[in-house]
Amino acid sequence: MQALGREPYPPRMLGSLAPLFGVLLGAGLSALIAQAPATRPISRWQPPGHQDRGLPKPDAVWSPYDEGPQHPANRVFAAIWLARLQPAEVAAALPTEHSGASKFFTNGWYFKKRDGRDGDERWFGGDGLQLPRERFTAAESAALIDLLLAIDGELAANLRSRPQSCIWLQNDLLRTARRLLDTDANSELLLPLLRAAERLALPAATLEDASLSTFGLESLTAVEPALAHGRLVELDRRSSRLFDAEHSLLWSRVFVQWPETAEPDLQGYLEAAANKLQPSIPLQTRAVLIQGLVAIDDQGRPRATSIAIDVRLQIFANADPLSVANTTTTHDGIAFRAFWLERQTLRERGANLKLSDFRELADEDQVLFRDYGSLKHTTVAAQCSLCHRRTDTPEQDLAGFPVLRRTSEPKSHIAADTRLRRAEAEFERFLVALRSAVK
Ligand code: HEC
Repeated sequence: MQALGREPYPPRMLGSLAPLFGVLLGAGLSALIAQAPATRPISRWQPPGHQDRGLPKPDAVWSPYDEGPQHPANRVFAAIWLARLQPAEVAAALPTEHSGASKFFTNGWYFKKRDGRDGDERWFGGDGLQLPRERFTAAESAALIDLLLAIDGELAANLRSRPQSCIWLQNDLLRTARRLLDTDANSELLLPLLRAAERLALPAATLEDASLSTFGLESLTAVEPALAHGRLVELDRRSSRLFDAEHSLLWSRVFVQWPETAEPDLQGYLEAAANKLQPSIPLQTRAVLIQGLVAIDDQGRPRATSIAIDVRLQIFANADPLSVANTTTTHDGIAFRAFWLERQTLRERGANLKLSDFRELADEDQVLFRDYGSLKHTTVAAQCSLCHRRTDTPEQDLAGFPVLRRTSEPKSHIAADTRLRRAEAEFERFLVALRSAVK
């Protein structure tokens, strides 16, 4: 794995190591490899080189909340998080959808797509962060209700005795309710989802216990040496809908590392932006986005927990033109690394997690995103580039950092819990909507 922003920009992501592993194995070093943690769930995702790279393998076995794959909680997971479906849209960025990379990576590559059609059906979802389900058939819904009813009594108590997994399961149930509210489907599921989530509720003191934490800023340097914990400044901002906990059910915090010698400095930039000016973002500006779980406690109140599940790194690496040779994520100078925690990793590792235990997504990994309200099969790189590119936008000087947009009202000097309390207030609005929908 290479560090972001080295020149020339290196080919990134785990996939590029695959040939090396082959060589090592060939050289008879398999014993060395075998010592790697056996639980690392790489094999559940389609590997580099596969046409569906990054999608769940159809025959994978998922045990996110309990080691028994048939545990009712795991079956709830399979019902919600695994779906074989035909996407509404298919992006041209998929390897089977375009030829000639040098011709393809020109203006607008990230927009190109077509409608889904027969033959596009795939398995989507898995132990990730993008929920593939939009609705359930009557039979699926009835089966899911039975499973939700099974999360009760001793079984629920056992789940509550493992707070991290329990919190995520609860968040997944509520997230499904959120989705069904959004798609106006399966209203019969809302009450069973809410009641099961309530049976998984833990006391506020447990939810706020710092020992649940899965991530600290100090762990960033190990995966990205140019990021220095002491130089990251947290920004408050007006969240877009994508990061509003009423919709995401997650808290989100953004930190920026401004280049040391840049003029103006970060404070100067923020003041200018507040005065309706917006200086250009300097090269080598970096950002970290972290999202984590909000839970409801046993009194029905939202609590932001210290379980971070999504860590994304960004750098303005170069201002070279858009081309295939510009090997940043956007191909126009903005590079990302995305780390998603898997539920199973959390269950197995608990408090001993490092950022390197998170699953790192490759630019070319495929995911079913729903950011714009329709299920779209695309690559990580194409999706991130939609909102974080330099080209084809009137805001080239923003260098793909929406948090620094004047209208986001970015502010420094915020308390460490500002964003967490905000997320709880946003989440409360979701609860009000859900509770009134089940009345
Ligand atoms: C639909 C638009 C959209 C998509 C798609 C999107 N983002 Fe963002 N992202 C935003 C917005 C808007 C913000 C600003 C924060 C806020 O609104 O609260 C942001 C913030 C960020 C930040 C913090 C610094 C910044 O740029 O402001 C990082 C890092 C980030 N996103 C990474 C990613 C990655 C990686 C992907 C792809 C997996 C991605 N984003 C996809 C809209 C998007």
